[in-house]
Amino acid sequence: MAFPSDRPRRLRQSPAMRRLVAETHVRSSQLILPMFVAEGITEPRPIASMPGVVQHTRDTARKAYAEAAALGLGGVMLFGVPEHKDAQGSGALDPDGILNVALADARAEVGDDLLVMSDLCLDEFTDHGHCGVLDDQGRVDNDATLEIYAQMGVVQAESGAHVVGPSGMMDGQVGVVRAALDQAGHSDTVILAYAAKYASAFYGPFREAIGSSLQGDRKTYQQDPANAREALREALLDVAEGADIVMVKPALAYLDLIPLIRSHVTVPVAAYSISGEMAMVEAAAANGWIDRERTIDEVITSIRRAGADIVLTYWAAELAARLNR
Ligand code: PBG
Repeated sequence: MAFPSDRPRRLRQSPAMRRLVAETHVRSSQLILPMFVAEGITEPRPIASMPGVVQHTRDTARKAYAEAAALGLGGVMLFGVPEHKDAQGSGALDPDGILNVALADARAEVGDDLLVMSDLCLDEFTDHGHCGVLDDQGRVDNDATLEIYAQMGVVQAESGAHVVGPSGMMDGQVGVVRAALDQAGHSDTVILAYAAKYASAFYGPFREAIGSSLQGDRKTYQQDPANAREALREALLDVAEGADIVMVKPALAYLDLIPLIRSHVTVPVAAYSISGEMAMVEAAAANGWIDRERTIDEVITSIRRAGADIVLTYWAAELAARLNR
């Protein structure tokens, strides 16, 4: 009988042995918590399709920023939910608009102890729900949108964002935001570019989270799920335009793109474990079909193992609390 001479099982025999040889670690400092802050509400409003996630009031959000800092998270990524929307998304440029006041609150609360990041996109602010303004035929107008993004970047930096995250997938968005920030004296503001962002069905719960009024889809600006080379093209363009960090989104269904991009750029790579990914896990766990904590650990570890340096996840605070214990 030929018994095996090489026995990989030897290194799996106990928790201590497995800990010794674990190749991938998740640290609180690598996790970013996305948060929703709503205008005109007095109590946090639960988001049914994202169990445990709420639309915060400015006050409850402040507590969450302090908690995130105490947990040693890498940062918070803020999304604003305005009371009124219009075709131009003008709430995005208003220094008193919900996202901008939330950024200021966050900086007042945490200073430089926690990185304050902001979504830089118009979909939360437009009544048609698109990420940009529309032309006279109802198409998303790339270059008219860029002019607004440039101003938005400056307003967000002036409100307190350490990091801005252009997420609208307009061509040239990183370049115009970088130029506008530099010109306004914000050369230290970091750009986390949503470089490879797909037209994904997994964004479903997010639409509820921001009260989106989107009709139709985003297929003329977000990427086709069939394409991988195109993700590399997008990431390289963003780096050339001045992105400090590039992101892949969604994460799980696009894990193959993380090592692809990681091996072609020298900047940090982030991945966003999005609303639909968390909703699937929460729904299955609520039915008793999977072990919730083990599944969460496995999902986030797999995104790190694929090569993401940074992970955006709605479970960031919960995970950090578990890691710190
Ligand atoms: C655009 C934006 C979206 C998400 C983050 N930024 C929605 C979209 O592009 O349709 C989705 C995040 C998630 O689903 O968790 N502002």
